[in-house]
Amino acid sequence: MVEADKDPVIAIFGASSGMAFAVAQIYAQRRARLFLLARDKQKLNDMERDLKSRGATEVQSLVADLSSAGGARAATELLMQRVNHLDVVLIASGLLGDTEGLLNNSQACEYLFDVNVQAPIAISNAILPLLLQQKTGVLGIFSSVAGDRGRASNFIYGASKAALTAYASGLRARLATSGVHVLTIKPGIVATAMTAHLPRGPLTAEPRTVAKRIVKGIDRRVDTLYVPGFWRWVMVVITHLPEFIFKRLRF
Ligand SMILES: NC(=O)c1ccc[n+]([C@@H]2O[C@H](COP(=O)([O-])OP(=O)(O)OC[C@H]3O[C@@H](n4cnc5c(N)ncnc54)[C@H](OP(=O)(O)O)[C@@H]3O)[C@@H](O)[C@H]2O)c1
Repeated sequence: MVEADKDPVIAIFGASSGMAFAVAQIYAQRRARLFLLARDKQKLNDMERDLKSRGATEVQSLVADLSSAGGARAATELLMQRVNHLDVVLIASGLLGDTEGLLNNSQACEYLFDVNVQAPIAISNAILPLLLQQKTGVLGIFSSVAGDRGRASNFIYGASKAALTAYASGLRARLATSGVHVLTIKPGIVATAMTAHLPRGPLTAEPRTVAKRIVKGIDRRVDTLYVPGFWRWVMVVITHLPEFIFKRLRF
């Protein structure tokens, strides 16, 4: 059982995410105690080795099914058997999906909402009692700029992220006086496994760059963090485009 002490205690759901792993590497350099939850045992082993070599005080890996609310709840319970204090909880698991395929396959569509919405909300709800009892801690939820406005090319993924953005916003307000902070993380396009099939362009960011900004955002208890920061302004433009123009765009 890990007691509260000066080494930060960080739990990451979907730790094999390119962005989340880059965040974990920064915390390893801060001598953090890291609890990694992901579905792939081999990836967990590789990450554990890497993070220990960077200075993590402790790394524990938990194989977790984060593709359903039930699996996510079970994973959270497993985590809570190992810790009684958490400084930072990150929920990074997510699935992009292909809009054409999702439109033609209701099961695939349900699965995307299970991974992107049901499981993250189940984790958050299950971890809340511990955070509330501590009266401190940051819960960082990976949403996306795609949740700010449904675009023709990826509106099903966008709808799932819009749900998470609304959940995180409401939870942040609800916990405003509790000492627990909720951070909504809205990445733009980041070069991870999720976007490996897409061409790299000038707007594509590296996970390490994004991770530095995320850790700073956690330190400063920012509410909503666009990563990289210029996406805030891109999304101001996109969300303010009049519908009669927006609906003609195919991006
Ligand atoms: N990359 C971007 O451009 C971008 C932009 C906006 C928002 N985001 C969001 O940022 C978060 C991190 O994404 P990333 O870019 O770092 O992507 P990534 O490297 O592809 O990581 C995605 C994570 O989700 C897990 N995952 C994927 N499908 C799953 C499933 N069916 N069941 C359980 N876990 C599953 C992956 O596990 P495995 O490693 O085992 O596959 C991995 O841990 C995600 O929530 C994503 O939606 C990403």
